[in-house]
Amino acid sequence: MIVPGPVVLISSMSKGQPNVMTAAWLAAQSLSPTLISVAIHPDRLTHQFVSATEELVINIPVMEALSTIHQAGQISGRDGDKFAALGLEPDESAIVEPPRVAGCAGYIAKPIRLSRFPQQVRTFLEGAA
Ligand SMILES: Cc1cc2nc3c(=O)[nH]c(=O)nc-3n(C[C@H](O)[C@H](O)[C@H](O)COP(=O)(O)O)c2cc1C
Repeated sequence: MIVPGPVVLISSMSKGQPNVMTAAWLAAQSLSPTLISVAIHPDRLTHQFVSATEELVINIPVMEALSTIHQAGQISGRDGDKFAALGLEPDESAIVEPPRVAGCAGYIAKPIRLSRFPQQVRTFLEGAA
């Protein structure tokens, strides 16, 4: 079985509404230039937000947040504000509109490049860090 490695929280924002989702289909594609890909299924609200704004933050969580990470991967922002529902604190990002998730170990926040797979099964969002 092929399993992905790191688990992160992807935060996004559209029309003033912040959202956050768990993602594990994340991979470093290149060191120079630095390229990271994350596959976000078209069903996700995150996909809608990121497609519209071409911005996201990759939040690298701490182990203590395991239960929150799990929940962020179970519920959708379509059903309400996930930051509030999960007790997450949004922190302003310097470079992009989407907030960072306070308390994470690290953040990658840059404009991204969208690329779509021919079958439209998944959309890859590449962020230059
Ligand atoms: C551990 C874990 C990893 C996940 N990884 C991904 C992923 O890489 N890509 C994806 O599209 N969904 C992934 N999901 C599912 C989304 O996090 C989930 O559908 C979420 O509810 C989407 O939220 P949204 O609709 O607010 O964007 C994962 C879920 C879990 C629990």
